[in-house]
Amino acid sequence: MLDNNLPSWRQDLKSSRKKEGKSPSNRWIQLATVSEENEPRLRTVVFRGWHKDSSMIIFTDRRSEKIGHLMSNPNAEILWFFLKTKTQYRFKGKIRELSDNKNHWDSLSEQSKSTWFWESPGEKKKPKVQSAIEILSNLPKPENFVVLNFEIDSVDLLKLEKPIHKRYLWEKIKKWEKVEINP
Ligand SMILES: Cc1cc2nc3c(=O)[nH]c(=O)nc-3n(C[C@H](O)[C@H](O)[C@H](O)COP(=O)(O)O)c2cc1C
Repeated sequence: MLDNNLPSWRQDLKSSRKKEGKSPSNRWIQLATVSEENEPRLRTVVFRGWHKDSSMIIFTDRRSEKIGHLMSNPNAEILWFFLKTKTQYRFKGKIRELSDNKNHWDSLSEQSKSTWFWESPGEKKKPKVQSAIEILSNLPKPENFVVLNFEIDSVDLLKLEKPIHKRYLWEKIKKWEKVEINP
């Protein structure tokens, strides 16, 4: 049961996720940022849960390009598509870093933690003598581990249904307001 105080789009999203079933791809979302050159940039990230009722958590590496984008422009969009229900959610909002991130680091497996100790993402690969990547244990939280908090201020939901598609827009103006719009 969902808390009645939660925005109503959370109920729709919960239902879409349930129908999609338990697959890792159920948590793969597309995050769009705006580069320092004012160009759109898009990539897949993992949805790591809710911070507050309408804010999502994403983990990333401080050395990745998206960090520079978000420092110059916190505006972002997240797209979440569900194949089984032919449903698309477009979330608009702002991203900020959560400084209190120790519990998130502790939630990761040793294998996941070790990825933050890899060479800098996006840089030219250096030739290496040793090719195997070690999975270490008891890794301390590194400075490049970043938890992003995506604070959602609007949700655009499109459901491909017969005979006519449905589309709804939620906007947060003090409280969440929902309107049906043309698909
Ligand atoms: C299935 C999948 C899941 C991913 N999850 C994350 C993630 O949770 N966080 C992340 O920073 N990058 C994740 N990536 C890698 C990003 O798509 C991207 O390549 C990387 O973050 C660098 O992006 P940037 O150069 O735009 O910052 C994932 C990629 C795939 C294919």
